[in-house]
Amino acid sequence: MTSSDSDWVVLKFGGTSVSSVSNWRNIHAIACDRLASGANVLIVHSALSGVTDRLERLLAAAVEGAHTPLLSDLRARHLELASSLKIEVSELLEPFFQELASLLSDVQEKRGADDRVRARVMAMGELLATTIGARFLSINTLDAVWVDAREYLKSTSRQAATVRAEYLSATCDFAPNDDIRDRLAAHGRLLITQGFIASNASGETVLLGRGGSDTSGAYFAAILRARQLEIWTDVPGMFSANPRSTAGARQLLELTFDEAQEVATAGAKVLHPRCLLPAREYSIPIYVYATQVPEMRGTRISESPPTDAAQVKAVCVKKGVTLISLESPGMWHEVGFLADAFQIFKQHGLSIDLVSTSETNVTVSLDPQANAIDQLVLQRLQTDLASLGRAEIIGPCASVSLVGRNIRSILHQLGPALELFAEQRIYLVSQAANDLNLTFVVDESQGDRLVDDLHHLLVDPVRNDAVLGPTWQQLFATSSTSAPVTPPWWLHKRQTLLSMMSTRKSAYVYDLETIRDRCVKLKSLQSIDRVSYAMKANPHPMILREVRRNGVSIECVSRGEVERAMASLSDIDRREVLFTPNFAARDEYVWAFEQGVTVTLDNLYPLEHWPEVFAGRDIFVRLDPGAGRGHHAHVRTGGVASKFGVARGEVEVLRDRALKAGARIVGLHAHAGSGVFDVNNWRDTGRYLAGLLNAFPDVRVLDLGGGIGVPDRQGAPEFDFAAFDSAMLELKKSLGGIALWIEPGRYVVAEAGVLLAKVTQMKGKGDASFVGVATGMNSLIRPALYGAHHDIVNLTRIEDHDTLMCDVVGPICETGDVLGHSRAMPRRTQEGDVVLIATAGAYGASMSSNYNLRAPAEECVLDIQLVR
Ligand code: LLP
Repeated sequence: MTSSDSDWVVLKFGGTSVSSVSNWRNIHAIACDRLASGANVLIVHSALSGVTDRLERLLAAAVEGAHTPLLSDLRARHLELASSLKIEVSELLEPFFQELASLLSDVQEKRGADDRVRARVMAMGELLATTIGARFLSINTLDAVWVDAREYLKSTSRQAATVRAEYLSATCDFAPNDDIRDRLAAHGRLLITQGFIASNASGETVLLGRGGSDTSGAYFAAILRARQLEIWTDVPGMFSANPRSTAGARQLLELTFDEAQEVATAGAKVLHPRCLLPAREYSIPIYVYATQVPEMRGTRISESPPTDAAQVKAVCVKKGVTLISLESPGMWHEVGFLADAFQIFKQHGLSIDLVSTSETNVTVSLDPQANAIDQLVLQRLQTDLASLGRAEIIGPCASVSLVGRNIRSILHQLGPALELFAEQRIYLVSQAANDLNLTFVVDESQGDRLVDDLHHLLVDPVRNDAVLGPTWQQLFATSSTSAPVTPPWWLHKRQTLLSMMSTRKSAYVYDLETIRDRCVKLKSLQSIDRVSYAMKANPHPMILREVRRNGVSIECVSRGEVERAMASLSDIDRREVLFTPNFAARDEYVWAFEQGVTVTLDNLYPLEHWPEVFAGRDIFVRLDPGAGRGHHAHVRTGGVASKFGVARGEVEVLRDRALKAGARIVGLHAHAGSGVFDVNNWRDTGRYLAGLLNAFPDVRVLDLGGGIGVPDRQGAPEFDFAAFDSAMLELKKSLGGIALWIEPGRYVVAEAGVLLAKVTQMKGKGDASFVGVATGMNSLIRPALYGAHHDIVNLTRIEDHDTLMCDVVGPICETGDVLGHSRAMPRRTQEGDVVLIATAGAYGASMSSNYNLRAPAEECVLDIQLVR
């Protein structure tokens, strides 16, 4: 029998798919549809979302005997779903809860859980959820029979398997099995069973490890020789890049098993790579669909590619990759060198992903998913490798992979994307022997950017393709199911913005209400004693006044900024104005001291050559934290290559010179870069400065700089202020009363500002479409300078979802004058429409120019009073 005339289909639903009433309605409809087509249906599903994590926590709490409240929460969670599904299941669930309670008491007694017990506890999530699912379908017209997966899926006993793998990460037999097929068929035509769990030869519960439910679905599909396996999740298929970070990410309509394996392994989380093997072995096609939009086409994964032509189908990124570079002049022609090196990795239990070798160097990457990597493990590895050569650890890195067919033949197209790396290092390039992927390893912070650029170059331009389908934006523009995000202020002030544009061609508009909100947020941080606004982000006088009204001080970097601050804020205490210049001339320091502002020095030269300027003065000093961070190389201000701050190795000399000059160092300052989301940035900087306090007894303040990141697109993750505050509170404990200051610029104003520009004309050129607007890089240089992304909408036609992918361009005579690549703009966009470029309040107007003698957009302010 071939799978095409099989009478079974296997439907696998993930955790989010089974956690809401609306999804269960869809599951009911999907099951009805498949039954009506004559198939028998096996539903395999996961635990409710978050339950597996809760079970982990329950196990940990049980060791301390503190599990009872968590157990009640777990019960409430399941009963809540049942009650919203209008079904009664308490009695059905009770035996599971009793078993769970007794397992946990056991854990408490033994003060720990072995893997056998752990597997039984973790299995409860699926057992409970499928009980609810079966009941719901049965109450609603379908005769669904609950079956216990452990009776059918049996783990393979592997000689080499550790006990841990045996219980927690088992693999199962999946050869077609008529006996199992007959036994399942005897239950009925619609069955529900659990993902993630199976049993061993002794009948004990085992788990299939991460992504286990996908694998269960594939095992069942193979055992039944199913017609097809459907993986239902929360995205409609696999995409050419992560749609959350790459605006033009395209739905992948068709993939072969080997391509899907590459995409799944290279970072996409939609499908677990383990599930592909059983399906591939028995040629069972896999479909990936989204439960919340069942009518939407998904990805089909099968044996036969729609075309054999060379094509890049996806650009994937994996973060948290560590590289080990082993340098050894002795390795050339030495028999067994690599074997010796790899043996050391094996001894440390580390699995190697990519390898690249030269005559004197071998560099390998360690995949974070396959390895538990921590500093200790790496240090030990480094010590052992020292017997072979000099080992260097490089990380965190990102590996960026191009996946598709015959990648070798498109290498020549990569040139422009790789040019961007003239100033960034590509640590490793690896081309897979099967020619299905080409991987670059770069600094982690560059990963998303490289993905964007490669995607733009290789995937965006492909039209009318059998593999590359619509973009995420196009798919969801007409659907109400796109990710819920807080609507930006400019949506509800849209009419005001449009009427402001009736007399203008372009304008920056700033919303003071949003600025106030951001100030309130910053002032609410318990750990921070003073917030100063880095006015270089936007020095508009009304913005300075709004910031000041909210108790925020000012940070300046030039005489011009200090003068603007003093002119706009006549009542400001001069000491509250921080002056943090870089490579300022002598007279600027003299002038600043005369004004009474707080001066920060970031170089030894002034102390050595103009000591008289600093005699008797209290000063702050800016130190180089040693490494830079930020959204782009141009905004990273730490490390030897950066011109900012006094180097770590020169701190002693600094202290000495200050003493000699008669200056008192009362504050230590460091700013590692801009557009940072990782809280470790401030923790590390803080720890570094705190470690110097003994050497600087007069210091009263640590200023940790600015740099707080702002999401550059709707739905992207926001800065985690709670984590920031708690890290800073922790730091403060060791500071003994020293104050902590920060000086954000971007966070205060970025989202409060939009750039509006009228459409001047459209152009189609070959396959490309352009929308031209009245201003470009003369107003907003960030896209051209940093490859920065700004969301762009046609404000006039915001409701029009019939879109076309376009580049939005300005009128400046440079090819780089592009405000946004591959944006979905309404097909009906017309001359005179108002286009809005979002998140443009920071480093927009302040970096604008008159290039081409085109005046940049004028600036307007929406005052709180005026709008209310
Ligand atoms: N403090 C110092 C010493 C700085 O150099 C900067 C920014 C800040 C604070 C404020 O950083 P923020 O919180 O805004 O990230 N033009 C670039 C950003 C350059 C930032 C320069 N220094 C951009 O458009 O992304």
